[in-house]
Amino acid sequence: GIDISKLRDQTGLITLDLGYKNTGATVSEITYLDGDQGELYYRGYPIEQIAEKSNFTEVMYLLLHGELPTEDQLNTFNGNIKKYNFVAEEMKKIIDAFPRSAHPMGVLSTLTSALTAFNPKSVNVQSKEEMDLAAELLIAKFAHLAAWTYRKTLGLPLNHGDNSLDYVENFYKMAFRLPNEEFVINPVVTAALNKLLILHADHEQNCSTSTVRMVGSAHTGLFASVSAGISALWGPLHGGANQAVIEMLELIEKDGGDVNKWVAKAKDKNDSFRLMGFGHRVYKNFDPRAKIIKKAADDLLAALGIEDKALDIAMQLEKVALEDEYFIERKLYPNVDFYSGIIYRALGIPTEMFTVMFALGRLPGWIAQWKEMRMTGDPIGRPRQVYQGAQKRDYIDIANR
Ligand code: ACO
Repeated sequence: GIDISKLRDQTGLITLDLGYKNTGATVSEITYLDGDQGELYYRGYPIEQIAEKSNFTEVMYLLLHGELPTEDQLNTFNGNIKKYNFVAEEMKKIIDAFPRSAHPMGVLSTLTSALTAFNPKSVNVQSKEEMDLAAELLIAKFAHLAAWTYRKTLGLPLNHGDNSLDYVENFYKMAFRLPNEEFVINPVVTAALNKLLILHADHEQNCSTSTVRMVGSAHTGLFASVSAGISALWGPLHGGANQAVIEMLELIEKDGGDVNKWVAKAKDKNDSFRLMGFGHRVYKNFDPRAKIIKKAADDLLAALGIEDKALDIAMQLEKVALEDEYFIERKLYPNVDFYSGIIYRALGIPTEMFTVMFALGRLPGWIAQWKEMRMTGDPIGRPRQVYQGAQKRDYIDIANR
């Protein structure tokens, strides 16, 4: 028989790095983060400055094109997005086919992939111009898809875009306008939404972005690649954490609000419970986005005059955990999604929609990374493995097994 251990020797050196903890998959110019210092930069600009001074449309441009836009460049970008601010009517039939109980992330992933069928030119792209067109098409239509996914969850009629509004306001109106009610844009809400979307816009080679790059490395079209990223984001260890955090806070509240009990559960190695919204693969000091979001949550609740018990529990949980040896030793700090759910909840967004909001924010990052990968000509992604299965053996007829 074949001695597989010898075969293994012939395949050359393979680094086994489960979870790619120390493996760089690419060279990138988009986002820099320093996990030890708790720093994050988009195209060289500190996240604190971007979150305070910029808006989501400008950040989309920055990530995609590498520079902050001039007024003319921003107008052209906005104009293109408005030009494509519609979705084929047939797409509504796809939404109709889903049960109302379908998870919005599953619906969003399907719709994003289906968009390819109605925009075939977005698939076989080669030049920068073709890639930018595919990017603008997806950005424009994605606001519809995210808003429609939300409407589906609530069983509400699907709204169309309003080109008198900017990107975030347009999404906000499409998602939240109720039938037969005058809709007024609340600037406090759109400011909070802009901030949240900016903070989620890119985070270098995270699970969903790596997925987008991996799928796109086979020269799969942008929309299908992003659809795969949405599926990756859905998981509770990644974007799904924002939903899991609020569910956890509600559970703790219902259980009497004893945060010490839940911190003890999270530390118990015989219990699979983890403190959702705590810990990060790269940030081992603090997540700079969490600080900004915590303040934004405080500001929004104050501006809307909302008192949220979940926020109190979150703050108690953070205090207890940050003083606990288990969390200190393992460098576990609140991440971006520990507080984002509190903002979404204050805006009346249902828990199941939280990860869709994350996807809307992450969209420009996915697209910028996909474009960079294609422009650089990265090879198809194809990791190796270390085989540990059966040695060579002969087939046994079913009668003799
Ligand atoms: N609660 C309790 N213990 C934790 C937690 C937590 N939230 N996170 C990590 N740990 C413990 C682990 O049990 C492990 O302990 P051990 O060394 O005694 O075995 C140690 O800390 C290291 O954890 P790993 O899972 O190995 O760290 P990894 O880098 O693989 O995982 C992750 C990072 C997935 C974020 C993890 O911290 C986690 O599951 N957190 C909760 C889910 C969450 O908030 N995800 C959102 C991530 S941010 C984002 O996607 C936007």
